[in-house]
Amino acid sequence: MQNDDFQLLSHIRYFCRNKILTLYHLISQTTIQQILSRIDIIEIVGSFIKLKKRGTNYLGLCPFHNEKSPSFTVSPAKEIYKCFGCGRSGNTIGFLMEHEKYSYVEALRWLAQKYNVEIEETEVTPEQKLQQLSADSLYIINSFGQKFFTDYLFNTEEGQDIGLSYLKERGFREEIIRKFQIGYNPEARDTFARAAIDAQYNLELLQKTGLVAVRDERPVDNYRGRIIFPVHNQSGKVLGFGARILKKNDRAPKYINTPENEIYVKSKILYGSYFARMAIDKADECLLVEGYTDVVSLHQAGIENVVASGGTSLTPDQLRLVKKYTNNLTIIYDGDSAGIKAALRGLDLALEESLNVKLVLIPDKEDPDSYVNKVGPAAFTEFIAANKKDFILFQLGVMLEDAGTDTTKKSAVVNQVAETISKINKAEDFTKQQDYIRQSAALLKIEETGLHALVNKYIREKITKEESRTARDEAANSFQPPAQPFEVEDEVASLFNKDEQHERAMVRSLIEFGLKPWENDQRVADHVFEEIEINQLEELFDNKHLIDLVKIFKTWYDEGLEPTQKNFLYHEDLALSKLVNDVMDYTHEISHNWKEFFEGKILTREDLYKEEVFSTLNYLKLRKIKRMMDENQRDLEKATSSEEQLVLLQTHQHLKQVEIDLTKKLGTVIFK
Ligand code: GTP
Ligand code: MN
Repeated sequence: MQNDDFQLLSHIRYFCRNKILTLYHLISQTTIQQILSRIDIIEIVGSFIKLKKRGTNYLGLCPFHNEKSPSFTVSPAKEIYKCFGCGRSGNTIGFLMEHEKYSYVEALRWLAQKYNVEIEETEVTPEQKLQQLSADSLYIINSFGQKFFTDYLFNTEEGQDIGLSYLKERGFREEIIRKFQIGYNPEARDTFARAAIDAQYNLELLQKTGLVAVRDERPVDNYRGRIIFPVHNQSGKVLGFGARILKKNDRAPKYINTPENEIYVKSKILYGSYFARMAIDKADECLLVEGYTDVVSLHQAGIENVVASGGTSLTPDQLRLVKKYTNNLTIIYDGDSAGIKAALRGLDLALEESLNVKLVLIPDKEDPDSYVNKVGPAAFTEFIAANKKDFILFQLGVMLEDAGTDTTKKSAVVNQVAETISKINKAEDFTKQQDYIRQSAALLKIEETGLHALVNKYIREKITKEESRTARDEAANSFQPPAQPFEVEDEVASLFNKDEQHERAMVRSLIEFGLKPWENDQRVADHVFEEIEINQLEELFDNKHLIDLVKIFKTWYDEGLEPTQKNFLYHEDLALSKLVNDVMDYTHEISHNWKEFFEGKILTREDLYKEEVFSTLNYLKLRKIKRMMDENQRDLEKATSSEEQLVLLQTHQHLKQVEIDLTKKLGTVIFK
């Protein structure tokens, strides 16, 4: 842990101790840009893998997949890496995030330490602050709880006699118990609650973590007499707990889990993902089981690429978490059908995410935990490999068996299968889709062409639905940035029409030349923001992502930061950084009027930057005028009274004049 972290922790501890004594801050943009300006991708990447110079680039063995001859390339000029073997690519921060599994902020802190940049933290909004404070406090309380429970398990008589002996009886060895930080909450009414309150932790927050409840106005331990399984996030911090009862008891639930709070969001959690991430990466496969004990036992057996869903159906967020590491998901379930049904629900989503899903059924009355203990690691692994079934075909088998000879049910199965197959719609999965159609038709004993037609019908339906949704979204789109602003690469690509080109050209000239001198003491950016109203960008731009980009540019610029391509390149929002890259990379086709404008001069864009800024800016304005004229024209056609017509005609003339002036300024002739 770094010094900063210690400082942060002590700040937050203050807060936990009942009062807010300190303000909480985020890393400032200035610090971020200081860090970014020092990044040397060769130095950073080179400290993790051996690089050799090849021409202008550097070459090494890819750390993300197994290879014998190097295909991992790093370009110091572009500040990116790319592996020609596995296709992974990104910038320095992306490399640290991928290689070290850091979050964006963790990567920044790592770099700050490396380059001796002092971290300056900026204030955040009061709501953000509270949210952040509360979240951080929950982490701290959880960490306190975890240590308390582990300590109790190993170092007290009750812990050893009851907790530890139970775990050992089940075959868990000390080393694995310690690795997973398993603990024990004593049976007495409030042992933990008293310890936490003595340590000055806030009772309200303690309740929020689920560790303490208040009964008859007195704090009590919620997990009395239970084994405690901490649930970790991607960087190993404790999000919450699963607490297992020791004795069989029909009235009490077997497990109690942390209630949903700022940090424990069940739909986003896969138990064990922190311990499994490297192994998943390496095996290029993620095993999914139901329970805590399954994960721990498999780990102990040396099978580490395993996570648990907690016995519920998989959520999109969980699938996305898996997909961060691998495309191959193997679900291992015990024969009890509730588990299977839960697993099957939500799996259509896996197909849409292009995950290859396989299923393995553990034989009767066993679960992965008991089975691996029974047959041993080698036999277990062999069993999995030999019994993997394809998810779609498996699902089909289950449904067919269910339907029996009932023809109505059987045709429902056909429809269901067609719909499932239609979800495999990525171009690269086309062959897979054809295979499924063939195999399913055979199982269903129906004509392949018929099933084909049915699948196509579902694909068409889906496209129609999406189109109407996009249309709705666009209609509803105001200048508020959408929740996930930049996740629409394809949409962006398809919008690549002429208008879009002009918008991009404008943004490009702003980013490329914004800091260059304009006139008098002004810089290009000053001029641009004098000419366009930042709150009315919607009038000039259709693409909302470009609008957001210009707004971020302005914010940075106003704060005295440097909104250059490089600083955008490292923006936390990877989609934004990609958009900037696209915009800057884009060799836009110079429209006719510009060509004339530049003709006869053998000058570069750099020489002509003022002209470029001028023309890209005014071209957008011209477009706006044209649109206003069109609108006016439409109103004119609808106008009924002569006064109305007169007003509209005057408006038309006024707009026409503006158009002529603008066009003259641009030195072009009007063209359609
Ligand atoms: P052992 O019985 O100790 O081996 O645990 P297990 O993980 O095998 O439990 P089981 O197969 O019964 O349940 C699988 C998973 O479902 C558990 O790990 C829990 O995540 C969840 N689960 C089971 N029982 C309960 C319960 O009573 N309440 C809640 N909230 N979750 C439960
Ligand atoms: Mn079990």
